[in-house]
Amino acid sequence: MSEATKGFRVLATRLMPDAVEARFRAEFDAVPNDEDAALDQKAILRLAEGCRGIVCTPTEKFDAETIALLPESVEILATFSVGCDHIDLEAAQARGLVVANTPDVLTDATADTTILCLLGAARMAQNAERILREGRWGRWSPREMLGVHMSGKRLGIVGMGRIGQAVARRAQGFGMSVMYHNRRELPAEDAQGATFYAEPAEMLPQCDFLALTCPLTPQTHHWLNAERIKLLPDGAVVANTARGPVVEDDALIAALKSGKIAAAGLDVFTGEPKLDERYLDLGNAFLLPHIGSATVETRNAMGNRALDNIAAHADGRDHPSRVA
Ligand code: DGY
Repeated sequence: MSEATKGFRVLATRLMPDAVEARFRAEFDAVPNDEDAALDQKAILRLAEGCRGIVCTPTEKFDAETIALLPESVEILATFSVGCDHIDLEAAQARGLVVANTPDVLTDATADTTILCLLGAARMAQNAERILREGRWGRWSPREMLGVHMSGKRLGIVGMGRIGQAVARRAQGFGMSVMYHNRRELPAEDAQGATFYAEPAEMLPQCDFLALTCPLTPQTHHWLNAERIKLLPDGAVVANTARGPVVEDDALIAALKSGKIAAAGLDVFTGEPKLDERYLDLGNAFLLPHIGSATVETRNAMGNRALDNIAAHADGRDHPSRVA
């Protein structure tokens, strides 16, 4: 803690985990959102008055209009997330607003959740649990509750950043052979033994399992569409822990209904917390409410990284993870 951080007024748009919230209030001139209610543009602009920093989360949109309307005093936006698709980075850059995020610290938790989605979907865990909870568990049966094997199968990863690489490492523990599609080929030491495909059309026909771990950008919006689904082997299993709009819902739902895709594990949804309700009726959809990074350790580390970014800014040091 320094004199500079003590006098640095910072709005946090959401309540953070207890330990992080305590640090926030002790270290900065803190403007917390004690009600933890979602802040709309009007509320953000009002609370940000006189603030030099804002800690935000993916639940608040900082589009070009909001950024243009921010009080002059705001110098830095530190998001409590690795994803920055809720922030118009170009508009931030044009206004001279520093943007920082929280990479690295959520890699393991999100990769674990990706494996959970692949495995949960492949083994139809949601159906098995429902049968048990509803008291419909009869005698053990050689024929019922059959999923498909993940071990030894072929996995394609779309987006081989830190999280994609961590998924590849885990998949090797299942004896899977791993391929990836990425904007660029990785050096061998980062590729984790996975094979690079510049063309999705060449990778998809080999993917028994497909994991979407890419950032949401104009290029990845609706990346998994009807055309690409057609290229997958019949009965493929898909997981999305990236962002909802990376998947075209109409196409995925149709493929889940027809069995072209045997099962999907989804942690993220277009328009969340609302989601396309047709997913709720699909027995072959394993659904989670965006818990990719939701462990105590990870959320504390994310909050601390967001505050580290603000503290570095206040002290005139390099930001640990600046994106704009
Ligand atoms: C992120 O950090 O972008 C995650 O989606 C939040 O868990």
